[in-house]
Amino acid sequence: MDYKIAVIRGDGIGPEVIDQAVKVLDKVGEKYGHNFSYEYMLAGGCAIDETGGCLPQETIDVCRASDAVLLGAVGGPKWDDVPGDERPERALLGLRKELGLFANLRPAMLFEELADACPLKPELVAGGLDLLVVRELTGGIYFGEKGFKDTDMGKAAYDIEQYSEGEVRRIAEVAFDMASKRGGKVTSVDKANVLESSRLWRRVVTEVSEAYPDIELNHYYVDNAAMQLVREPKQFDVIVTSNIFGDILSDEASQVTGSIGMLPSASLAVGNFGMYEPVHGSAPDIAGQDRANPMATILSAAMMLRYSFGLAEEADAIEGAVKKVLADGYRSTDIAGPGEKVTGTEEMGRLITEAVI
Ligand code: IPM
Ligand code: MG
Repeated sequence: MDYKIAVIRGDGIGPEVIDQAVKVLDKVGEKYGHNFSYEYMLAGGCAIDETGGCLPQETIDVCRASDAVLLGAVGGPKWDDVPGDERPERALLGLRKELGLFANLRPAMLFEELADACPLKPELVAGGLDLLVVRELTGGIYFGEKGFKDTDMGKAAYDIEQYSEGEVRRIAEVAFDMASKRGGKVTSVDKANVLESSRLWRRVVTEVSEAYPDIELNHYYVDNAAMQLVREPKQFDVIVTSNIFGDILSDEASQVTGSIGMLPSASLAVGNFGMYEPVHGSAPDIAGQDRANPMATILSAAMMLRYSFGLAEEADAIEGAVKKVLADGYRSTDIAGPGEKVTGTEEMGRLITEAVI
């Protein structure tokens, strides 16, 4: 089969980690008889430098015409003085909205080999950790009406949190579908004791759950959920929540695994289209030094094969290769223990490519 992938290498360590993922994909293509073609597009800081804007229309058009998008990372201190709505990060929001990527899947798993990286007491994560944050990605306060007004306390700024029933329903369905293929449990996170939008959220999630009698559903307020994640993380299977709560909780969940450099993500539209990117950012402090961990990007490529192309066996092969390299004792800087030998980005990419069988 032929697959057309729009590749956005982006800024900071984006290009170097993407290059490793492409190497791995090429190996998968060779082994399993697929042809992956790549179209390299600009977004983020590098797009500002070359075109004056963080998200060129051409990038959006090529992404739309592709089967999936693979993205490295955007942003960096170089663009700190760029005004708010033209910052590199705006490219991400633009891509999400323009491509209709309403469902963000952020798995947080603790690799057995990296159990020591977990900052929690070992008994809290005994037997491993595997949870999935399903974050609504194109609604809520990120995209609600915003503006300024005058008040008797001076100028005020506002951002409105708003959710429609349809938006909640479709993200809840994704969460229940995922749970039915995993641990059979959904935890919906809101702030229904205070927010009207959360009360609607909770009502709709509960309605959707009626079509999934085998899936257990519970509801947490977001403050409690943040606490439960470090108190008893193994109680979670799938967490479904709004855009902003998901932003916050997915960072917390990733830190619980101790290795943000390992975590992939998928942002899905209706149908099979999706954008795949590592959870870590552009890490400008280590860019260009062959120190970045390419595993999150390589695992994101595996998610792309699984969710957008329906290639489960090939996705398994990539995940297996990453596990093998970890089991063989190779560690990048971010996951190396004290005194452990460190493997660079390129070499890590080569080892994983070789381990794809
Ligand atoms: C994320 C990031 C983005 C977000 C920023 C960079 C706009 O934090 O993907 O979690 O808030 O969604
Ligand atoms: Mg975030």
